[in-house]
Amino acid sequence: MIVNLRAARFRACMILLTGATCLVDPRPQAAAQSKPPDASAVLAEIRSKDTGQLAVSEEDGRFLRLMIASSGTKRALEIGGASGYSAIWMGLGLRKTGGRLVTIEYDPARARELVANVRRAGLADIVEVRTGDAFQQIPKITGTFDFVFLDAWKKDYKRFFDLVYPRLDANGLFIAHNVVNKKNEMADFLAAVQTHPSLWTTIVSPSGEGMSVSLRK
Ligand SMILES: C[S@@+](CC[C@H](N)C(=O)[O-])C[C@H]1O[C@@H](n2cnc3c(N)ncnc32)[C@H](O)[C@@H]1O
Repeated sequence: MIVNLRAARFRACMILLTGATCLVDPRPQAAAQSKPPDASAVLAEIRSKDTGQLAVSEEDGRFLRLMIASSGTKRALEIGGASGYSAIWMGLGLRKTGGRLVTIEYDPARARELVANVRRAGLADIVEVRTGDAFQQIPKITGTFDFVFLDAWKKDYKRFFDLVYPRLDANGLFIAHNVVNKKNEMADFLAAVQTHPSLWTTIVSPSGEGMSVSLRK
């Protein structure tokens, strides 16, 4: 069989060389040459280029993936996608649950990187990128959410919580980033989630940045 294939390829090469019409491309198939998506390489590249230190830490990314996989998340929302570091971690968890993520980023250059990075990580069927101001984009998304990750500008956290909470499912999770290292910029938000009668909230800090994790009872 190997010999026959080689002979066929040789014949096809001769057809190409002589300019005759050829229905069989003798060159190795592109699919056979292309490598499967390598999400860890894309994650490492995003981090190496992240001079503004926008991306969550690797430990926080692992935590997000674990929370999504263990809660069986189906409809996730991210506010503040940047170049896709956290979205890719969450997308890896959603690959396991069969869920989807909508991530919103209003910086156009970052949003383009986000789209490209999600695609290179092999998660384009799971992660949808919306470009624009999340305050305007969220009302355009239909349905409810069972997982929300908030990582936009910190002064806006309370307003985002007020906007999204009515659409958070019972047993849904609302997770916000930087609640330890930037807690002074979001005192109103932290007071709201820590005193809310319909939420159980705890603060975790896998790497010092801190995340509030709130479950809607
Ligand atoms: C800390 S970075 C997000 C990092 C990202 N979650 C990650 O780990 O890779 C915050 C991002 O939120 C975006 N952002 C801030 N306010 C926004 C808004 N109102 N709508 C959409 N994006 C917003 C910023 O442009 C910025 O890229």
